[in-house]
Amino acid sequence: MPGSPHLKFNYFAGRKLHLGVCGSVAAFKTLELLRVWKTLGITVSVTLTAAAREFVTPLSYLSLGASKVYGEMLDGDDVFAHLEPGRLADAMAILPATASAVSRLAAGDASEMLSAQALACDRPKLIAPAMHPRMWLNPATQANCKLLRERGFHVVEPAFGRTACGEEGQGRLADIREIYLATLRMLAPADLAGRTLLITAGPTREFWDGVRFVSNPSFGLMGAALAVAAWLRGAEVKAVCGPGTPWLPAGIERINVESAAEMLAACQNFWPSCSLGCFTAAVCDYRPLEQGAEKLKKEWLGDSPVLRLTNNPDIAAALGRLKTEAQHSIVFAAETSNIRQNAIKKLASKNADMVVANMVGKPGVGFESESNQVTIIRKNGEATELPMSGKADVAWRIWDVFLNP
Ligand code: PMT
Repeated sequence: MPGSPHLKFNYFAGRKLHLGVCGSVAAFKTLELLRVWKTLGITVSVTLTAAAREFVTPLSYLSLGASKVYGEMLDGDDVFAHLEPGRLADAMAILPATASAVSRLAAGDASEMLSAQALACDRPKLIAPAMHPRMWLNPATQANCKLLRERGFHVVEPAFGRTACGEEGQGRLADIREIYLATLRMLAPADLAGRTLLITAGPTREFWDGVRFVSNPSFGLMGAALAVAAWLRGAEVKAVCGPGTPWLPAGIERINVESAAEMLAACQNFWPSCSLGCFTAAVCDYRPLEQGAEKLKKEWLGDSPVLRLTNNPDIAAALGRLKTEAQHSIVFAAETSNIRQNAIKKLASKNADMVVANMVGKPGVGFESESNQVTIIRKNGEATELPMSGKADVAWRIWDVFLNP
C-alpha cells in the first residue's frame, strides 16, 4: 500500500494538493490516495467532474478529510471557485484522467470546473490516465498526452492488464503507489538532481545446499526508504536489492540478487556510471565453503553437522578502493557496542565520506523494525545525531545531512 513504512515521508506535512477526479470505474481508488496523503499531513481539496459523481460522491471525500469538494462552474455563490486551486494548492493531480478529460486539458477547454481549474493553475500538474486500451493508443489521445508533457504535465502512464470491460492491454489506472509517489515528487525539492545513486539494500542469502542458507533479519526497509527519498529528490537511482526488499517505483532501476557475490557483481557493473554510493545492505560477511545444489539429507549430514565458512567480498570496501574524486560514498555501521569508534573505523577502512552508525539490537532500532535511530559521522569527525523516527523520515534526514554539511 502507498502508506507502507518506506514510503511514509512526514516532510510533506502542511503541503496543499488539489485532486481532480474524472468519471471512471477506477475513481474509487482516489479515496485510498486521499486517505494516505492525509496521513502525511497534506491538505487535499477535490473536484469531481459530473461523470465522476456517478461513480463516487462528494460525501466520501469530505468524510475522509478533504478540505473542500468543488461542484460545477456557477454552482453556488463562489464565482471564483475555478481560480482557487491555482491560488491555494502547491500541485494538482488529475485521475483517473479519461480520454475526454485529457482532450479538454490539451485543448485548454474551460467549459467545466476541473479543466477550468487546471487551466488557471500554474503549479506542477500530474495526470494519471485510465481508459480502454484502444482509446489510450488512439493517435488523438497519444497526441494530447504528448502535448501535455511538452507543457510540463507529469504523466503516470496506464498499466497493462485486464480492463473493466474484460479486454487486455494498456489502460488500467497505474498502481496507486506510483501515483502517490509521482505526486510527492512534484512537491519535493530536486536537490539530488544530477546525481546517480547506487544503493544496496536488504540481506544476502548464502546457500549451503539446495534449500538452506545463512542470512540475517534485514528486510531492506532502510535501504528502500533511502532509495525512494533520493528518487523523490531528483536522483537517478540504481538499487541492488537482497531478498525481501520492499516494492520500489518503476523509476528506480532495481536488480534483485541473493548472494554477496551477486550483489558485488551488480554493484561493480553500476559503479562507474554513479556519482554516489550508499551501502545499507546487511551483507553476510561469510558464506559456506561448500555449496550443493541438492537438499542434503539428514542421513548424510549426521548429528550436529559443522558448517565451514569462508570470507565474502566486502562490497563497500571494494568500491571504496575504486572511488574517484568525483564519487562519494556513504556506508552504514551496524553495531551493538562502541558505536562511534567502530563506525569511524569502518568509515576509514571503506574509504567512505560519511558513515551512518546504527546501534542495532535496541527495541525499535535497526533490523526488522519500522523505525530507526542513527548518528551520522563525516570524514572530518563532525557528528549529527538523529532522533528515533520512522525509517522514511530517517532516510530523508540522512540526505539533508549529506547535502548540507
Ligand atoms: O534492512 P532493515 O531491516 O531495514 O535494517 C536496516 C539495517 C539495520 C540493515 C541498516 O540500517 C544497517 O545498519 N545496515 C548495515 C548493515 C551491516 O551489515 O553493517 P556492517 O557494519 O556489517 O557493514 C558496514 C558497511 O559495509 C555497510 O555499509 C555494509 O553494507 C557494508 N558491507 C559489509 C560487509 C560486506 N561484505 N560488504 C559490504 O558492503
